[in-house]
Amino acid sequence: MEVISVLHMKGGTGDSSYASNSLVGNKVISRTRPVIEEAVSDLCRNATLPEKLCIADLGCASGPNAFLAVLGIMKAMDKIREEGGFQSPEFQVYLNDLPGNDFNTLFRALPQFQDSLKEQLGLGFGPCFFTGVPGSFYRRLFLSKTLHFVHSSYCLQWLSQVPELEDINKGNVYIAITSPPGVIRAYQQQFQKDFSAFLKCRSEEMVTGGCMVLTILGRKSDDPTTKECCQIWELLSMALRDMVSQELTEEKKLDEFNIPHYNPSPGEVKEVVEAEGSFSIDRLDASQVNWNVYENDSAYNITKCIRSVVESLLVNQFGHAVMDRLFQRYREIIDDTISKETTQFFSVIVTLTKRVV
Ligand SMILES: C[S@@+](CC[C@H](N)C(=O)[O-])C[C@H]1O[C@@H](n2cnc3c(N)ncnc32)[C@H](O)[C@@H]1O
Repeated sequence: MEVISVLHMKGGTGDSSYASNSLVGNKVISRTRPVIEEAVSDLCRNATLPEKLCIADLGCASGPNAFLAVLGIMKAMDKIREEGGFQSPEFQVYLNDLPGNDFNTLFRALPQFQDSLKEQLGLGFGPCFFTGVPGSFYRRLFLSKTLHFVHSSYCLQWLSQVPELEDINKGNVYIAITSPPGVIRAYQQQFQKDFSAFLKCRSEEMVTGGCMVLTILGRKSDDPTTKECCQIWELLSMALRDMVSQELTEEKKLDEFNIPHYNPSPGEVKEVVEAEGSFSIDRLDASQVNWNVYENDSAYNITKCIRSVVESLLVNQFGHAVMDRLFQRYREIIDDTISKETTQFFSVIVTLTKRVV
């Protein structure tokens, strides 16, 4: 499966769209705001503010979250500008995602966001220009030495491809307790390779002293089989195994399907950054948010969120016909799980500065 051509969050603004089901991502970006503010303040302190400032949000998807981080970055910059009595730079904002992303919905929401920027930041701010950039962030996307600030939230856990597995990951869609050691190793190696390629591309595109804030859906523990990161996919595997036992899909299809996704620990992120060598680490934290960010009907809403994220991959393997049954079963399993235990997503948040070369 070619991740770049298959993976896309559910487009539009309807009930099943990512735009309407991205509250977890929204909470995560909101909580990262102090880290973003600190990084912007460091960027402005370390470098003389240029007249033209380029910002990129990588893996923006479409919907409210695409603008949330940009708003946080802009507000932090404007505060510094006001405090220092500087004239505002001109801003170029790049919104990147894979080519299958619903850029039309994103662009349609832009005028409203631009109006609210003007309202919140006043006339002394900007001007501010927006550009959509379709393509994989594991390749070069921008001109060399042009980016000052890069942000990405809940994207870098997506791998460029499904790892090449020598063993069958029987009945599992991700790393599980029952996965052979070779499967776990292959996932780890794919993450190392991809994240290193990401850093290399950004190091070519960023100015010296430029700053990145990356929030990755990860884990706290050193153990890649921990429930912290595997449980949400284990429950999906359970639902798929039920589909197999009811002969709604074939066992072979399940055994061949693995999610191109890896949840790293802070230690793994640090190791790749240090080995690649282009960036210094200013801050590295882990935090958590409950699966259950909704006031009512949590299992229903968690299921809708995960469906809006992974349905494109599942349809590609199992076909459309089985999706409603699959997610109905997934919902029942999630409902049962969250009634018995506290379930959380873990984030690894890293702030990086481009080294002098
Ligand atoms: C869970 S969404 C997060 C969206 C948004 N940043 C948020 O926090 O709500 C992950 C996004 O990463 C994008 N993505 C995954 N792999 C990518 C890649 N290699 N290059 C660019 N975008 C990618 C997906 O298409 C998707 O829109």
